[in-house]
Amino acid sequence: MKIAIINGPNLNLLGKREPGIYGSMSFEQYFEELKQQYPQANLHYYQSNVEGELVNEIQRVGFDYDGIIINPAAYTHTSVAIGDAIAAIKAPVVEVHISNVHAREDFRKLSHVSAKAAGSIFGLGLKGYELALQYLLNRK
Ligand code: DQA
Repeated sequence: MKIAIINGPNLNLLGKREPGIYGSMSFEQYFEELKQQYPQANLHYYQSNVEGELVNEIQRVGFDYDGIIINPAAYTHTSVAIGDAIAAIKAPVVEVHISNVHAREDFRKLSHVSAKAAGSIFGLGLKGYELALQYLLNRK
């Protein structure tokens, strides 16, 4: 099973960035743990701060991989292009947000991704990525 995790802008700063909201662990550290815990998943990680690069990566893995876990970060709320890319591909997509976007500013309540995703997880910290992975590994 090939599963891609795609993170959007500023998520390269996890661990340093607003730790009260996003926690103190880097994503690289979390990803290593996830790979060890789920060796059957054949996990691939990609992060970019650039909208078009995220679209390119969604298109690249979207017809080949068995599932995508995506946290488009701030682009969730603004990017029609990322929403369209997710609608265009074959692989099932799970949207993850570390923080509870519905308990924050109003602009974070809009997602261009949710309607195109198999499902969305928010507010459960980094654990959300693992729960998304479990869903993709066990879906029929
Ligand atoms: C986020 C929530 C977004 O609103 C924010 O812009 C992020 C991270 C999250 O994981 O909680 O960068 O996607």
